[in-house]
Amino acid sequence: MKILSAASELYPLVKTGGLADVTGALPAALAGEGIAVTNLVPGYPAVMAALEKTAPFHAYKDLFGGPAQLIRGTAHGLDIIAIDAPHLFARPGNPYLGKDGKDWPDNAQRFAALGKAAADVAGGINKGYRADLLHCHDWQAALGPVYARFLGGPKSVMTVHNIAFQGQFPASVFGLLGLPQQAFAIDGLEYYGNVGYLKGGLATADAITTVSPTYAQEICTAEYGMGLDGLLRARRHLLRGIVNGIDTEVWNPATDSLIAATYSAKSLKKREANKRALEARFKLESGDGLLHGVVSRLTWQKGMDIFAAALDHLVASGARLALLGTGEAAIEAAILDAATRHKGRIGVIIGYDEALSHLMQAGADTILVPSRFEPCGLTQLYGLRYGCVPVVARTGGLNDTLIDANDAALQAEVATGIQFAPVDQPTLEHALARAAECYSDSRLWRGLQKRGMEQDVSWARSAAAYAQLYRNLVKARAS
Ligand code: ADP
Ligand code: GLC
Repeated sequence: MKILSAASELYPLVKTGGLADVTGALPAALAGEGIAVTNLVPGYPAVMAALEKTAPFHAYKDLFGGPAQLIRGTAHGLDIIAIDAPHLFARPGNPYLGKDGKDWPDNAQRFAALGKAAADVAGGINKGYRADLLHCHDWQAALGPVYARFLGGPKSVMTVHNIAFQGQFPASVFGLLGLPQQAFAIDGLEYYGNVGYLKGGLATADAITTVSPTYAQEICTAEYGMGLDGLLRARRHLLRGIVNGIDTEVWNPATDSLIAATYSAKSLKKREANKRALEARFKLESGDGLLHGVVSRLTWQKGMDIFAAALDHLVASGARLALLGTGEAAIEAAILDAATRHKGRIGVIIGYDEALSHLMQAGADTILVPSRFEPCGLTQLYGLRYGCVPVVARTGGLNDTLIDANDAALQAEVATGIQFAPVDQPTLEHALARAAECYSDSRLWRGLQKRGMEQDVSWARSAAAYAQLYRNLVKARAS
């Protein structure tokens, strides 16, 4: 079976978050199911530079404001079709934002190009390739199902990685899209009088998935649905949650070349060298005491404002913190301020550093994820794999991927982390206290670490679930 996957990020070529990890790892896992994935991505400079064995695939005279070429090639074992459209994508840096930190003013055109090309490629615009199904990720690719539905193309799957980002544009954008007028309707792109890309994808796809069962339920409620819950409730029968896996080759403490010392569940003592390396990197006092870790976008979603307010408490409880992240200016400032107050106890690196993120999981004792909502979350999965105990909010995928260390779970020896709810400062501080208490019992802590490392966080089960969904859709079309 042939699947065209369309997304604006693809690890290791272009990544701002977990979306890239997912689109980059799923193809190899699906290959094991007999499914061949081709990845359609915008031709950002990093993508064009990485492509090998390239061949022209299709030429557009005009794709939203200029000529464009589709180029097929490979990189890092991935089969890729890049949209080489310099007027849209030949811009270095973040894929969505200009240097001023604001959305590019032509994002509507840039990601209409991704959706249009997705439906064209999947539908067989080049006679040498036709997909059995189109799988589109997040709002940037969400016009794929809309074009496929209104202009012809295969069946489609729409995956929501984060419903907070919807791709909403003024109604005038509709005129640029080349869609029939009937597409500007309640069962199409129209969204409260405007154009909604994700809304359109959700309204027209043949199946909808999101990245955990709990988040699938949550986005059907007004509290989490961010305005799309009504539509999702109406299409509930098409929606399911499939929890993300991780690339267990890229993330393997036994072979990881980005950490100070490799180790396994049987040689956890060797983790100490990573803790020492982390302390040095973050200019922290050295010691065996509890060292918390954070690798995160510093945003409201991630609860990082509340976390910043809890830092004095964290230090008072005797723990230390190493934090790697970047995000909202006010949150960055609050965290840096705490680091100045607590030199040697709180170490902060503001920035994005893929290599360092590995050392964090290998050297910290915990990975803290106090998110207000979390569709799946990957850092807690990396934590499990690395014996870095997750301390997380009980929401979305954080609910589905861990078992809280409550008395019953500890007694049954099934606990893998610490969960808390609701996300407010006292409850977070209470969770930090619980972590400290667990850590002080080294036998208990080792148990949490080892059980975490034994969890299957690979893509195997979830790839099988996607494969089954694909097969059902293709079969339904055939009959
Ligand atoms: P989200 O996609 O919402 O940001 P996820 O947990 O799904 O959250 O994925 C985040 C991904 O980005 C993980 O691979 C994580 O390690 C990585 N990441 C986040 N912030 C940083 C950072 N500052 N430096 C390096 N990697 C980061
Ligand atoms: C989004 C979500 C995150 C999820 C990732 C990959 O960025 O915020 O929870 O893990 O997508 O699906």
